[in-house]
Amino acid sequence: MSNAARISRRVQQIPKSAIHEMTRLSKEIEDVAFLSWAKPTSNAPRHIRDAAIRAINDGLTDGYSESSGLLKLREEIAIKLERDNKIDTNASLIMVTVGAIEGLAAAVMSVVDPGDEVILPSPSYSTHANQVVLASGKPVFVPLIEDDGFCLDIDGIRKAVTQKTRAILYCSPSNPTGTVFSEQELRQVAEIALEHNLVVITDEAYEYFTFDDNRHFSIASIPEMRKNTISCYTFTKTYAMTGWRIGYLCAAEDLIPQISKAHIPFAICAPVASQYAALAALQGPQDCIAEFRRKYNSARDLMCARLDKLANVFEYQQPGGSYLMFPRILDDAGCDSGAFCRKLLREAKVSTTPGVDFGPTGEGHLRLSFCVPEEMIDKAFDRMESFFR
Ligand SMILES: Cc1ncc(COP(=O)(O)O)c(C=O)c1O
Repeated sequence: MSNAARISRRVQQIPKSAIHEMTRLSKEIEDVAFLSWAKPTSNAPRHIRDAAIRAINDGLTDGYSESSGLLKLREEIAIKLERDNKIDTNASLIMVTVGAIEGLAAAVMSVVDPGDEVILPSPSYSTHANQVVLASGKPVFVPLIEDDGFCLDIDGIRKAVTQKTRAILYCSPSNPTGTVFSEQELRQVAEIALEHNLVVITDEAYEYFTFDDNRHFSIASIPEMRKNTISCYTFTKTYAMTGWRIGYLCAAEDLIPQISKAHIPFAICAPVASQYAALAALQGPQDCIAEFRRKYNSARDLMCARLDKLANVFEYQQPGGSYLMFPRILDDAGCDSGAFCRKLLREAKVSTTPGVDFGPTGEGHLRLSFCVPEEMIDKAFDRMESFFR
């Protein structure tokens, strides 16, 4: 029997990641202009790295922490959630996780039974749908309204609710579209969730990166939503700590011990050295956040200006947040987004991500990251301009 036959149906259902495929192909080509990675290219600030080194040298990091995370860290997280997210919480309602991803996975595992439906906007971050599939649940995609800047289709969400719906899972600011769902939209989502007794799982990874008059809104700040929201956060984007694998979630008193039952078999606890680094991140100067936001805002403006010059090839919605955007390909010469990206990589040496990776309405788009030095954006667009000319 080949190993293919031994693989669980859950895992078999997960498609090969186009992001990883593009990364692999990009490595075969020299001097690629990269617009495909959604990860900060800066280093974590010095004082954060120093705190981890100190904790390691002081022998504080060789054992497990409490599975929910160091108490001092959870206390600092509670202060941050009350101050920045307006969520009424405390250290006992917080679980420190292995990045936002493990928190989201534990959240999904703890509320989704086989056959349960989870409503997701489309396009959305592919990992979310894969997490639902791993829990043997069924992702139900509700298309975002592209012409309105990829806003939520509230009626579409309401119509998608069935007897089997357990949860709504979204990220705002969004990967891949960069949309910041407004407070008004999210209050309507809350109404639907409360009416049908649904759990709302949020991915707020890009919470600090919003531009113009867009404001990040945490749905758990609505007092009635505290009992049925699992809000997931990360240090990855805020403090450029991608490889530290550290994030957290907050949820209601009767959910946290249940989510913890899903967290322990996958993680036991988050990496302890990273927990000390995260503590320093919260206690130390916060100027890196404003600096990253300024940088991404300026990179977004540059990318939009460069896209304007390619108006015959791409049509785009200006992102209000994150560091990602999702232009539609107008002239795809009859190929799908995967083939289009591979062609762009081979012939123009520009690495992008095919939209097909982000749900059923992702096809026909590219995801571009502006979390790169501005010279990289110029290099990529200079090449694309000559290529499409
Ligand atoms: C929306 C979103 N959520 C979560 C993550 C990963 O977060 P973490 O590194 O905290 O697991 C990413 C990374 O790109 C992301 O875009």
